[in-house]
Parts: sequence; C-alpha cells; structure tokens
Amino acid sequence: MLIALFPGDGIGPEIVAQAKRVLDALAIDGLTYEEGLVGGAAYKAVGHPLPPATLDLAKRADAILFGAVGDPDCDSLERHLRPEQAILGLRKELGLFSNLRPAKVFPELADASALKHEVASAIDLLIVRETNGDVYFGEKGMRKTPEGLREGYDIMSYNEEQVRKIAHQGFQAARARRGKLCSVDKANVLETSQLWRDVVIEVSADYPDVALSHMYVDNAAMQLVRNPGQFDVIVTGNMFGDILSDQASMCVGSIGMLASATLNDSNQGLYEPIHGSAPDIAGQGKANPLATVLSAGMMLRYSLGLPEQADRIEAAVAKALADGARSFDLGGTMSTVEMGDAVLAALA
Ligand code: NAD
Ligand code: IPM
Ligand code: MN
Repeated sequence: MLIALFPGDGIGPEIVAQAKRVLDALAIDGLTYEEGLVGGAAYKAVGHPLPPATLDLAKRADAILFGAVGDPDCDSLERHLRPEQAILGLRKELGLFSNLRPAKVFPELADASALKHEVASAIDLLIVRETNGDVYFGEKGMRKTPEGLREGYDIMSYNEEQVRKIAHQGFQAARARRGKLCSVDKANVLETSQLWRDVVIEVSADYPDVALSHMYVDNAAMQLVRNPGQFDVIVTGNMFGDILSDQASMCVGSIGMLASATLNDSNQGLYEPIHGSAPDIAGQGKANPLATVLSAGMMLRYSLGLPEQADRIEAAVAKALADGARSFDLGGTMSTVEMGDAVLAALA
C-alpha cells in the first residue's frame, strides 16, 4: 500500500517527520512511502502549489499524510498560485468531500482546555464537514461597483446532491456513535442553508434511529463553549465546519491535538492535522506533532484497514500524555522531536 507524504510548509515537515517515525515503529508489512511537494515549498521549487507530479502521486496513493501549507511569502501571489490551493485542489480533484474532525478530551489534558475542567471533560464529538462545495468553490473575484468602489465577491452555493452525500455521512457516523446528529446551518438568513436543512430532513427518513436536531451556526459557536458535552456528531458545510473545528480544538486543549480524515467515495483519504503551517513557530521545534500522529492513526483505521494499529497509536499518545509529555501549546517545554520520542517510548 502506497502512502503519499506531503509535508508542505512551516511546521509541516517537522510534524510529518514525527508521524513517520511512529508509523515506522509499527513496522507494518507492505507500506511504501513516496514524498511529494505541496504548498509554498512546491511553488518555490517548481512554480505551482500542486504540481502535476504531486497530483499524480496523490491519485496513485492509497492514502495521503499531509502536514500543512501556507507561507507568508506567498500571501500576495495570485490566488491560484497560493499554497492553500494545494489542499483545496487535492480535496476537489480527488473528490475528498467528507472531512471528519473528532474532538475528545484526553483526561490528562482537561486542564489545558480553555474551558472549565468539568465542561471540557464532557467533550466527545465529531465534526463532519463538507469539503467540496460552499463559498470555497463558488465563483469569486474582484470588481468595481457602479460608483467605482472596489468590491470582492465569493458565491456561496450547495446543490442537493452535495448536501445529500454529506448528510448520509453525518447520519452514518452518528449511528456508529451515540445516535445524535446536529446539523449546523444559517437557514434563518441563507438560501444555501435553507436547502441544506431541507435536504438533511429528507435524508433523515432513512435514519429513524438517529435523533436529528438543527442549530444556527452562531448559536453552535456559543453552545460549543457553554455545553459542548451536548454534541455527538455535528454535520455542517465547508466554512462553518472550518471555523467550528478550530474552536473545538481549543475546547479540548490545543489546536495541536486535533486530527482529521477527509474521505472520498472510495475511502481513499487525506489525513492531516486541522491546524495550519504555524509560521510563528516554524523551525523552532515548538510544534506539537500529536495531531499529525493521530491523523496517521486515522489513516490506518479508515483507508488502510488496520484498526489494531490505529488503536496502538491512540493508546501510545494517551500514555505519553499520562506520562507527562507536554509540548509548548500544552503548557510544557518539550520539543517536537521529544514529543515524538515520548510516543515511541509509549509504543514500546
Ligand atoms: P495556524 O493553525 O497555522 O496557527 C494558529 C496558531 O496556532 C498559531 O499561533 C500557531 O503557532 C498555533 N499552532 C498551530 N499548530 C500548532 C501545533 N501543532 N503546535 C503548537 N502550536 C500550533 O493558523 P494561521 O496562523 O491562521 O495560518 C497560518 C498558515 O497556515 C496560513 O497560511 C493558513 O492559510 C495556513 N493554514 C493551512 C492549513 C492546512 O494546511 N490544512 C490549515 C489552516 C491554516
Ligand atoms: C483547514 C484549513 C483550510 C480550509 C485552508 C488552508 C484552505 O483552514 O483545513 O482547516 O479552510 O479548509
Ligand atoms: Mn481551518
């Protein structure tokens, strides 16, 4: 089985290196790796954030382990050349529409949460975020108003097929968990969201065993810090899911802890931490690699059919934390490599 490694920019190479050490330590038969250029690193090397060779490797691979993309040097390039287009392009080109972002408190980390201990301890939720549509992929541009003012625009839309597909993902995930699905939208204002809500309700007919609720996204942001324990599975669109997942990360302790899987119809997946390239700490050995390590675990579970090995990774992360491993974002002083060492020690 072929795994594509795309380290990318900023802290990407540092954190992917630790995840790779953990995968190597598992000594799984038959895994091969090929590395590819993405993001600003790819732009600087070959002039495009998602070069053809990278896209080809992504398509050939059984799974992709992705670090992060984003480079301040590239922030004023034409949009199609910016590093972020690598992740957006991979999601679109490979049909990776179902982005799973679990947030669960490791008991040892409840004090790292921005929330009170008893509020944080109750968190065990999964955000199912659509990643092929929404305002991300609509027509966009800059124009002049009739008065000559500069105006930027991005068209938000979802068609019913896109909503139906992600709704099924949400219901199935809820069925496999605690049977509760909360669909988050802004149907009080947006037509896109009205269609979203209508279609989610239609799909719910196939899942009488799942308790469906609806929540406006502003309220959802508030409820995530007031009473996050109420959520089991949240299904939402691309932009709302992006924002709520960063928020959920801090509710469980740190953005350096949240892993994700993005799957297509053939369960080929892209696995990445939910955070970005963190240019403010890149190259300093301060990045927490655990979100990436846990993403590698999700890869073994969802794309490679190796649940026992995935369990081993999760158990090793939990043990490393229980043994006191703490990177800077978790209030400690351990470097990226030392955090990797701690996971390896816990695996052994
Ligand atoms: P960010 O997630 O990179 O960083 C936000 C804050 O969290 C920073 O203070 C950073 O130091 C901290 N942080 C992030 N990951 C951490 C980790 N593993 N350990 C410790 N601290 C961590 O978000 P940003 O600063 O808004 O964006 C930086 C760049 O990353 C931008 O170019 C953005 O477009 C890009 N980005 C990429 C992805 C991706 O590749 N999937 C995701 C989000 C942002
Ligand atoms: C994420 C990131 C991306 C997104 C950016 C880098 C395009 O924030 O994966 O959460 O908005 O989807
Ligand atoms: Mn994001």
